[in-house]
Amino acid sequence: MSDKILSLIYTFSKKFSDPKTNLPFERQNNNISAIVKDGNVNIFLQVTGNESYIYKDILKLLKNNIAQIPGVLSVNIALTSDKNNEKPEKKFKIDAKNIIAIASGKGGVGKSTFSVNLTIALKSIGKKVGLLDADIYGPSIPRMMGISEKPEMNNEKKLIPVENYGVKCMSIGFILDNEAPTIWRGPMVMKALEQMFNGVEWGNLDYLIIDLPPGTGDAQLSLAQNSKLSGSIVISTPQEIALTDARKGINMFKKVDVKILGIVENMSYFVCDNCNQKHFIFSKDGVKKESENFKIPYLGNIPLDKKLRKQSDEGRPSIIDDPNGEISEKYISIAKKVDLGLQG
Ligand SMILES: Nc1ncnc2c1ncn2[C@@H]1O[C@H](COP(=O)(O)OP(=O)(O)OP(=O)(O)O)[C@@H](O)[C@H]1O
Ligand SMILES: [Mg+2]
Repeated sequence: MSDKILSLIYTFSKKFSDPKTNLPFERQNNNISAIVKDGNVNIFLQVTGNESYIYKDILKLLKNNIAQIPGVLSVNIALTSDKNNEKPEKKFKIDAKNIIAIASGKGGVGKSTFSVNLTIALKSIGKKVGLLDADIYGPSIPRMMGISEKPEMNNEKKLIPVENYGVKCMSIGFILDNEAPTIWRGPMVMKALEQMFNGVEWGNLDYLIIDLPPGTGDAQLSLAQNSKLSGSIVISTPQEIALTDARKGINMFKKVDVKILGIVENMSYFVCDNCNQKHFIFSKDGVKKESENFKIPYLGNIPLDKKLRKQSDEGRPSIIDDPNGEISEKYISIAKKVDLGLQG
């Protein structure tokens, strides 16, 4: 009886392949073993790495199929891995205590503006900071940071970050031809990002802030898999169309085991020069509600502000131009929350 069950188990299992190796789960591939005792089935799938989430669907289907075999009373499936206790080696190397990715689902919600001001706010509370512009589609950090020169190379052929306002800055735009359009393929994104880590003399940093392109593409995945991200901060405006995209971003980071340090609402309201009233142009408190739904920290909000936009365009970030203003206070309060969260 047990032999018959075993043979049916292996017939089912070889219909499924390991998504990492593409090998079907069958005995000759040494990636499955099964034991049947008194109708109780124990199966071990030998996998590599520790990304158990990619096997979730296979485990479920296999379990459901095997449970249907006559005579089977219970099914237990375990993943085993030689390297289960080892974290996979990260390819992107940098001497930074914390690496934070600034993300959004939707484009144009203010990631780059936030990245610049958060970095300078962290600097203003005494941290050694670097800012990496990883926006392969529209690098904008050099302009916002008032940087026009390109980085030089040191003797070891590593790029030296360009420094302004006490922030070490590198942009993927520095290694691209300004005029030629770039069609990015996955491996190219990975190579370019690797260059931004391993090919740059960052020195030691308390914080590396990474400004990401919008969405959930290759840059996000490549960073999640290859760098030691401490976590990500998601930026959204309060209206539903931006929140829908923000949710996708949050879910993607969850899937690849990147912690969400918090969510920030940008362009929360506009204070009219004439009536001095707050106008909630993109709806009210959308991000706060979202943070409650997802149980992720709400880090704060930044209003829609004409001066902030102008400062950004002119390469003089708010915190530099108006260090004691209300907006600077908001950025510093967010920086302190982030710093506290990562120490705890
Ligand atoms: N709170 C704000 N008040 C006024 N203008 C803002 C605010 N935040 C961002 N902006 C302006 O909105 C525009 C888009 O901002 P930014 O480039 O930071 O967005 P982004 O999310 O990085 O965009 P992309 O997805 O294209 O990278 C910029 O002109 C910026 O100056
Ligand atoms: Mg941007």
